[in-house]
Amino acid sequence: MTTPTERTQQARQEDFERVQQLYDVDMPGNNVVHDLIYPHVYGEGEYIGQFSDNSASEIIAMAEAMKLGQGAEVLDVGCGTAPIASLLARRLGWRVTGIDLSRASLRKARLRIQAARQEQQVPLIEGNIYEQSFDQRFDGIYGTGSFCHFEAGRLFRRCHQLLRPGGRLAFMERVRLGPIGAENWKKVTEDWACPSVYSLDEYESILCDAGFRVVHLRNQTETFCHWQSRSVEVRRRLREEIIGLTSADYYETSLRLASYENELTSTGLLGYAQFVAEAA
Ligand SMILES: C[S@@+](CC[C@H](N)C(=O)[O-])C[C@H]1O[C@@H](n2cnc3c(N)ncnc32)[C@H](O)[C@@H]1O
Repeated sequence: MTTPTERTQQARQEDFERVQQLYDVDMPGNNVVHDLIYPHVYGEGEYIGQFSDNSASEIIAMAEAMKLGQGAEVLDVGCGTAPIASLLARRLGWRVTGIDLSRASLRKARLRIQAARQEQQVPLIEGNIYEQSFDQRFDGIYGTGSFCHFEAGRLFRRCHQLLRPGGRLAFMERVRLGPIGAENWKKVTEDWACPSVYSLDEYESILCDAGFRVVHLRNQTETFCHWQSRSVEVRRRLREEIIGLTSADYYETSLRLASYENELTSTGLLGYAQFVAEAA
């Protein structure tokens, strides 16, 4: 029998209209604030414009664990403003197709890719991965901070269809490490248009059911904890600048959001992990 807490932790439905609204309408100030805060959070050279909770070194570690050679055809699901696609195309010689349904993020992505003269190496698509057809199978697919918006089973089956046999799927995402109370559960799921926050075991078994074999799993909770508490500290320190760029209301909301996530992490309920799996 499921307990009340377990019942609240079951996956909700995906809601991509809400996802789009979140990134295109609800968070207009977020990119500028990110650019202000995260160089201080991650440290020298580790912030490249990513919206996910990981440093550039962690992104490269995940990509290297995919073990794909130069010229690999790779899909970045939920590429956002494409900092990661740009970095990996340059560092690893991949051709990275970025897909995202947020118009505002893609506008910024196009500017980034044009400025880096990477139009050939990083094609960008505005669309939903479930509806978009592709004229090729990919060697690799990855997502950083974007898989939280998906029901994992449906997404992994879709990725399996899009990968060549032996292709690699990688992602970095928040994971549930213990039972999260109903009020916080709503904050980490519904408020962010996320169907669930899966546990490590759930991710492993859902990957396996979708035809994948996990080849690499790195628990990044320790550094995640560090980024979370730094993000609260830095927000407090840069209060005046953040308000100058946005508003006092924005500052208070962003501090509140960062603080409750930090609390969940420091009490051991919320963590972060990196997975690489191979398509059978
Ligand atoms: C937290 S952001 C991460 C962006 C980027 N990966 C990064 O690390 O900077 C999540 C992104 O996933 C995108 N996304 C969510 N669901 C999607 C879908 N079904 N198809 C394409 N993009 C999606 C959102 O629009 C958003 O830009």
